[in-house]
Amino acid sequence: MDSKTYTLITGASMGIGRAFAFECASRGMNLILVALPDAFLDETKNKLLSCYEVGIVAFGVDLVQQEAVERLFAFCKEHEFRINILINNAGMGTGGRFETIPLERYQAIVDLNNRVLIQMTHFFLPIIKREEKGYILNMSSLEATLPLPYKAVYTASKSFVYAFSLALREELVRENVVVSVMCPSAVVTNAEGLRRMAAHGAKGKWVAKMPEEVAAIGIKNLLLGKGITIPGRLNWMLVKIGKLLPTMLKLKLLERIFRVYRDH
Ligand SMILES: NC(=O)c1ccc[n+]([C@@H]2O[C@H](COP(=O)([O-])OP(=O)(O)OC[C@H]3O[C@@H](n4cnc5c(N)ncnc54)[C@H](OP(=O)(O)O)[C@@H]3O)[C@@H](O)[C@H]2O)c1
Repeated sequence: MDSKTYTLITGASMGIGRAFAFECASRGMNLILVALPDAFLDETKNKLLSCYEVGIVAFGVDLVQQEAVERLFAFCKEHEFRINILINNAGMGTGGRFETIPLERYQAIVDLNNRVLIQMTHFFLPIIKREEKGYILNMSSLEATLPLPYKAVYTASKSFVYAFSLALREELVRENVVVSVMCPSAVVTNAEGLRRMAAHGAKGKWVAKMPEEVAAIGIKNLLLGKGITIPGRLNWMLVKIGKLLPTMLKLKLLERIFRVYRDH
């Protein structure tokens, strides 16, 4: 049995997940990196190994495939990895008028953002509970706090993650596992995100964050036991203001602001 403890990160080969991997490795954590089986995963593993003296295991898998989470779990069990931190980061989204996007795309979003996240948590929570102290960090979005026109399925999938995380956190409040949820605004990661941010012009830049900033605050707050992390003071204020506005007025404003996604 491997006596070390590991942090398991999904979607660890790019964007925020990769930044989480570097942040955790810089804190001396051993890592199990999970992402699609491609060159990005190998590159991330090799780069981490060249920078930090920590244990790194890479597991390439399409998490949306049937029994993918079961296979990942069996792999961890076979190697008797001790896991004390789970970061459910893998996720995807899309923008545009609801009916113009193929149903298969929506199914893939709900599968990855919700089904896989629930499966990961269900499989790994008992393993994490064996440790003296355990942590689960779920990746939601600022959009979880807003029903966002032209991103209806993504925003709903992130609301699911938000509600699930807070409910589970309270269930486990007297146990040794902290559940925390992150709600970043736009993060400069993939090409689609960059296109969406550019569509908002200067406003997009005010709220945007770099993956490294998001990962650093996410891990810091997770280890402090905080329930909700919204990176950036301006973003935090936007959420507070949003809660004060009447829902129908808020929706009208949001539709105007996010109309740029309509024909995206
Ligand atoms: N970027 C933003 O503006 C933003 C804002 C708020 C919240 N978020 C959330 O933050 C999380 C990360 O976003 P990101 O922008 O960093 O994403 P990203 O740059 O697109 O990276 C996604 C990561 O997930 C992996 N992945 C995708 N589909 C997978 C699958 N089916 N099975 C296994 N791994 C898979 C990718 O692997 P490959 O590299 O091999 O493709 C990659 O490592 C998501 O949950 C997203 O919804 C993002």
